[in-house]
Amino acid sequence: MKEIKTIGILTSGGDAPGMNAAIRAVTRTAIYNGWRVYGIYRGFEGLINGEFKELTTESVSNTVQRGGTFLKTARSEAFRTPEGRKVAYTNLVKHRVDALIVIGGNGSLAGAQEFAREYDIPVVGLPGTIDNDLYGTDSTIGYDTALNTIVECVDKIRDTATSHERIFFVEVMGRDAGFLAQNSAIAAGAEAAIIPEDKTDIDQLEKFIGHGFRKSKSSSIVIVSENQKEGGVMHYVDRVHKEYPQYDVRVSILGHLQRGGRPSAYDRILASRLGYASIEALQEGQRNIMVGINDDKIVYVPINKAIKMDKPIDRELMNVLGALSI
Ligand code: F6P
Repeated sequence: MKEIKTIGILTSGGDAPGMNAAIRAVTRTAIYNGWRVYGIYRGFEGLINGEFKELTTESVSNTVQRGGTFLKTARSEAFRTPEGRKVAYTNLVKHRVDALIVIGGNGSLAGAQEFAREYDIPVVGLPGTIDNDLYGTDSTIGYDTALNTIVECVDKIRDTATSHERIFFVEVMGRDAGFLAQNSAIAAGAEAAIIPEDKTDIDQLEKFIGHGFRKSKSSSIVIVSENQKEGGVMHYVDRVHKEYPQYDVRVSILGHLQRGGRPSAYDRILASRLGYASIEALQEGQRNIMVGINDDKIVYVPINKAIKMDKPIDRELMNVLGALSI
């Protein structure tokens, strides 16, 4: 095993609150161990374009509380090609980087995995995405903050929904995963959540409007995961217009505000623990793993498992939502 003296770190894909706290933890733990750290700007794109800058303990001062990622991020098309990855590797060799830490979601860790398969360099992934859709970790960096942001927004929407006795469809992020929708619905006391994991959306809508809503409520909130169907949230709104024209319906698409803002204490602590653990993992000779958290313990998950296996939604939570929204 080659001795590690220098590491590179980058953030990739959609930004997530707490990424800065993770960069800080990686940087400071590495320096504490006598290693050099290169921050690589703009994700894999910067790896290809040679955007390397050495990080010091001061470079990460005043970052733990800031949303976004000061290393910037990108979704790189060039890194999907073998030619792009070759240039990326040449740049790592040029800077004598012995190991790479990648903070990102599914797509970013898939890129990291492909790179580690082709080139002899240890890669450690940290789960950074608001979607919480990586297998093997109970939570991803940014998920808790985004969840709290959604709940704060839905609380506000609730005020106007109640005043006007309207049904609101609120679209939240999550790409192909319903964690944000399901848990924000419970936390905000929404009447229903329509999530990608549940294929019975037609029944859900009927169940909710045809029975629950009509029976006892004058206003209602339904949280809908984005990309659930062609047309997203508008698909459901169109259905209500056609099938239940007596109701006054409005839509709120929360969009990218869900990705911004100061990370919650939970995300800062999670990011700090995972960042610290990523350096420990490299010291132990680990490679091609994602560092995650399971039952409050640090775990190492092979990257290919983290990206390929489906993280199951807790079905019991749908029952909780159903029971509490009568
Ligand atoms: O993966 C994080 C995420 O915010 C998803 O929830 C969403 O589908 C996507 O990124 C949006 O991507 P973009 O920032 O490219 O619009």
